[in-house]
Amino acid sequence: MGDGGVVHPVNTINSIMGIDLDSYSPMPAVDGKGTHGGYAGAAVKPIALNMVSQVAGDPQVNLPISGIGGICNWRDAAEFILLGSTSVQVCTAVMHYGFRLINDLVEGLSNWMEEKGFRTIADFRGRSLQCITDFGGLNLLYKTVAEIDETKCIQCNLCYIACEDGAHQCIDIIPHNGKNQPKIRQPDCVGCALCFLVCPVDSCISMVRKDDGSEAITWNELMKQLPQPLTWESLRQFQQKHGIEIH
Ligand SMILES: Cc1cc2nc3c(=O)[nH]c(=O)nc-3n(C[C@H](O)[C@H](O)[C@H](O)COP(=O)(O)O)c2cc1C
Ligand code: SF4
Ligand code: SF4
Repeated sequence: MGDGGVVHPVNTINSIMGIDLDSYSPMPAVDGKGTHGGYAGAAVKPIALNMVSQVAGDPQVNLPISGIGGICNWRDAAEFILLGSTSVQVCTAVMHYGFRLINDLVEGLSNWMEEKGFRTIADFRGRSLQCITDFGGLNLLYKTVAEIDETKCIQCNLCYIACEDGAHQCIDIIPHNGKNQPKIRQPDCVGCALCFLVCPVDSCISMVRKDDGSEAITWNELMKQLPQPLTWESLRQFQQKHGIEIH
């Protein structure tokens, strides 16, 4: 959306919160009938950040961008500005917590700017855009694997279930001192980080970098090196040489 020469990429997002399973009406309902509402607040922040980055990264857009969508604190504001917002707006969070939130936002943002040595918004506006790319621009040789700190593990085995049913089946359950201890077979781990995300214990699973950072090649660069049209065989040779998998 744009007005007054300013782009604000997201408004609320059309949504239906749910259906009452006894009355079959949407929730909330007015005399049994409902319509879609507007989704806003923290849940829409990832969508809004992506939209801001797309607009700010488009060289044809030469307008100020007002970031909005899920901004609740100074960290959120900083993220929107780092992706190219010239200003930020807050709606839902103020409705929830009151205008006092803005004082905290300004104070937190000022402190962070001072810590980083930024004097003005322009000093860091759009700084993260250079780190946004698509799959073709990612380093294929960047390799991480999951590692479990067994001193923190509570043997809930959520990591085992996630890897077994949703990833690469490379966590084994090993009986140890009367408990079932998950163990990662690191040579088979593809570094998808699903186990890291589902683990309920802070810092129990870490993603550890395994390549030494000395080599980098993106998909786009690889496509220029390999004979075209691309064959499975040439791709397989590249994967075998570097011990990686491309999905
Ligand atoms: C209760 C409510 C009423 C809103 N009314 C309007 C409106 O009248 N016009 C408009 O452009 N946006 C309206 N919005 C959208 C907000 O301006 C904002 O774009 C959206 O809520 C996302 O920001 P937020 O996550 O900070 O709430 C409204 C949002 C809420 C939650
Ligand atoms: S999810 Fe975390 S705490 Fe649970 S078994 Fe796996 S490593 Fe241990
Ligand atoms: S990072 Fe992915 S593949 Fe590796 S152990 Fe965790 S869930 Fe399995």
